[in-house]
Amino acid sequence: MSVPTSLPRNRHVDVIIIGAGAAGLMCAATAGYRGRRVLVLDHANKAGKKILMSGGGRCNFTNLNSTPANFLSDNPHYCISALKRYTPQHFLELVERHGVEHVEKAAGQLFCQDSSKDIVNLLLTECDWAGADIRLNTAIQSIEAVANGYQLTTSAGAFRCDSLVVACGGLSIPTLGASGFGYDIARQFGLEVLPTRAGLVPFTLQPDLKEQLAPLSGVSCPVEVSCNGMSFREPMLVTHRGLSGPAMLQISSFWQPGDTLAINLLPGEAVQQTLLGLRKQQPQSTLAKYLNQHLPKRFAQAFNDLNHWQGPLQAYKNSDLEDVANNLQRWPIKPAGTEGYRTAEVTLGGVDTRQLSSKTMAANDHPNLYFIGEVVDVTGHLGGHNFQWAWASGVAAGNEV
Ligand code: FDA
Repeated sequence: MSVPTSLPRNRHVDVIIIGAGAAGLMCAATAGYRGRRVLVLDHANKAGKKILMSGGGRCNFTNLNSTPANFLSDNPHYCISALKRYTPQHFLELVERHGVEHVEKAAGQLFCQDSSKDIVNLLLTECDWAGADIRLNTAIQSIEAVANGYQLTTSAGAFRCDSLVVACGGLSIPTLGASGFGYDIARQFGLEVLPTRAGLVPFTLQPDLKEQLAPLSGVSCPVEVSCNGMSFREPMLVTHRGLSGPAMLQISSFWQPGDTLAINLLPGEAVQQTLLGLRKQQPQSTLAKYLNQHLPKRFAQAFNDLNHWQGPLQAYKNSDLEDVANNLQRWPIKPAGTEGYRTAEVTLGGVDTRQLSSKTMAANDHPNLYFIGEVVDVTGHLGGHNFQWAWASGVAAGNEV
């Protein structure tokens, strides 16, 4: 296709950002305040759809305890610089400037008091004040490198920019507008894309176990789950499809197909010693009674049935009680798989950060091409860390474009 030599002023801007999500909007406002003419393009009919869905509709917009240790990446040092320059405190100050009411749920996890809409409105207001233009319902058909910038052919005509920012997120939840377009752009310009997989996602179970756990559907209990050297102590939720809840979502990012999870149903308890003591003091007592005192009633009952534990404690040998403690504290579960991108909160992997500047987020070989947010190989734990990365990487690029 021949490229026109000049475009009208509203079609030749300083910066085009692809993706009106968390990272793209933050970048747009930051660049706009620096006097850059910014255009944000998105194929969706609404900006910030994932923000609206996030945190159960109340957006866990940051985590006061966020550190680089809360992120997974093949290149773990990459995220440090941006996270250090734009901290959770910075975003909190922005939230407070806009008068958004918020609450701290678990330690450090900040949520909107009312609705995620408050965060989308905050970002749209910032973009408006900064003079950034947002065009929705715009499909991007092709991107070409031209002299001093990029030319985009879109369903709304051609646009040109000096700097192009790719902020189109990962593959999770296609119904919210997710696509692999960011990875395609990276490959088009010769960047490596590391294998992607669903993260922060519920597990599915083999049919037998699913059937055995069916009576527990809807039951939640605090556990410590471990896999591949990582452990999380959070609630687990049994669903009619498998295992979910924060503990399972967290560990899913570290799980690989074929791995077995170890679930401690009584974290912090010295189960074996307690049972040995109980057998001595109350030989007629039962495991069912012990479980009832320590686990949600339905869970206790089903777990007891699952293990066929019957009779008084005095009938149990030392080795039997060791097995019981092992079952309660290292319950091995081999998931069939995960629910995949359909429900995953994030996509692990993505644009290899070794080819990007950790200061500017620009590609080393294409200094005016930037990648921010979830499209890059930086993925946070559950609890507001992913938005913190979106804000921090958006600001880092916004200050450079
Ligand atoms: P994001 O996905 O937000 O935005 C990408 C944008 O690009 C979208 O607007 C999309 O339409 C657009 N786009 C994609 N393909 C395109 C194309 N081909 N052409 C044009 N535009 C295109 N995190 C957290 O910290 N706290 C939380 O509470 C939650 N909760 C949560 C719940 C649910 C259900 C999900 C799915 C995710 C979360 N997350 C979260 C994760 C968080 O939403 C995510 O990490 C950020 O939204 C990533 O921000 P980005 O801007 O990178 O992508």
